[in-house]
Amino acid sequence: MDGYRRFVSKRTSLFRASEIRELLKLTEGRDVISLAGGLPDPRVFDPRLADIAKEIIEKERDHALQYSPTAGVTEFRQTLKDFADSKGIKVTADDEVVVTAGSQEALFLAARVLIDPGDKVIVEEPTYLAAVNVFREHGATFEAIPIDSEGMQTDVLEERLRRMSKDEKKPKLIYLVPTSQNPSGSTMSQERRKHLIELAEEYDLLIIEDDPYSFFTFEPIQVDYLKTLDKSGRVLYMSTFSKILSPGLRVGWVLGPRDLVSYLELSKQTIDLHTSTLSQYIIMEAIKKGIVDATIERARALYKIKRDSMMDALEEYMMDLADWTRPVGGFFTMVYVNGEIDMKALMYEAIEKYGVAYVPGESFFPVSKKKNTMRLNFSYPSPDQIVEGVRRVALLVREKLGK
Ligand SMILES: Cc1ncc(COP(=O)(O)O)c(C=O)c1O
Repeated sequence: MDGYRRFVSKRTSLFRASEIRELLKLTEGRDVISLAGGLPDPRVFDPRLADIAKEIIEKERDHALQYSPTAGVTEFRQTLKDFADSKGIKVTADDEVVVTAGSQEALFLAARVLIDPGDKVIVEEPTYLAAVNVFREHGATFEAIPIDSEGMQTDVLEERLRRMSKDEKKPKLIYLVPTSQNPSGSTMSQERRKHLIELAEEYDLLIIEDDPYSFFTFEPIQVDYLKTLDKSGRVLYMSTFSKILSPGLRVGWVLGPRDLVSYLELSKQTIDLHTSTLSQYIIMEAIKKGIVDATIERARALYKIKRDSMMDALEEYMMDLADWTRPVGGFFTMVYVNGEIDMKALMYEAIEKYGVAYVPGESFFPVSKKKNTMRLNFSYPSPDQIVEGVRRVALLVREKLGK
């Protein structure tokens, strides 16, 4: 790559190659248990999608295989508003939807529209790594607010906002995953959600509510969406069908005030013209036929069992070595090892010697870079693999801490 360095743009030089992804390539074709990924369990995929795809191509060929509007297929956008409404996400008369190629594109569009080089973005710490990478690529710097089991600590946020209000360049954007967060699994309490909205009002901030996981929590949660609590058009809500139908269809969506969302639509025109028309038709039909809701229920049941396996295994093998979060949903738990340890430096050894892979937590902490952390995935491995994987991680950690 370096031979072409002189040709590449300044922006490209902000891209970060993932060393972790390189390391994880070592796991391919080997007897390594991976707790590193973030894939859905294919058993949640619904075989009826085959019939739907066939039927749509037969009956709707003229439309489903055609170009479609940048913001999304008109009927599908209405379906998404109805879907949001049915899940308790407030949709106002001023709101509009843009359909995206997964939430990843939604994040990219939001960053492209909202961030100038040098802008400060407020994030949870830890936070979703791919969002950090997108924001960084657009020149953002980060103000990181710690989270605990009740999500972002809004009292810390308040104090920081007060301090930053004296700066010449004030932050204008907060990004968070309030429910079943990636990577920590924590869910923000109702009280903090309300506090966050108040602070956004007081300090004139926009909020990105990134929400891939709220539809299949393992226990009921008594919280409102930030989008629902919002009274003045400050929340850009985004979600995806990746975890509740299929990531391969690549369909996400953004819901927010029409005037704001129109910028995202404009930005999308020069990226990919529109999201796959066929995928949108398939999902529209899957929603109508109850397949999305059925997938949600399968995901809830299956991932709950796996979450429990992970929690049990951590208790059995790591009780004296670490603390961890107990997620009410999502795919992950974050482990904080007690003691001086660099989980990133140990990755190679974990794979080579112990036959287990995890994601070192450091990169999820854009400011504090906590080295004693790792993200463990429970959605993809089987319960047996989860238990054995955690046992192996514990062996490694125990050896390094000399316990
Ligand atoms: C918090 C969060 N946001 C966004 C995404 C992107 O999902 P997709 O692009 O598949 O919709 C993910 C995927 O893991 C995620 O965990």
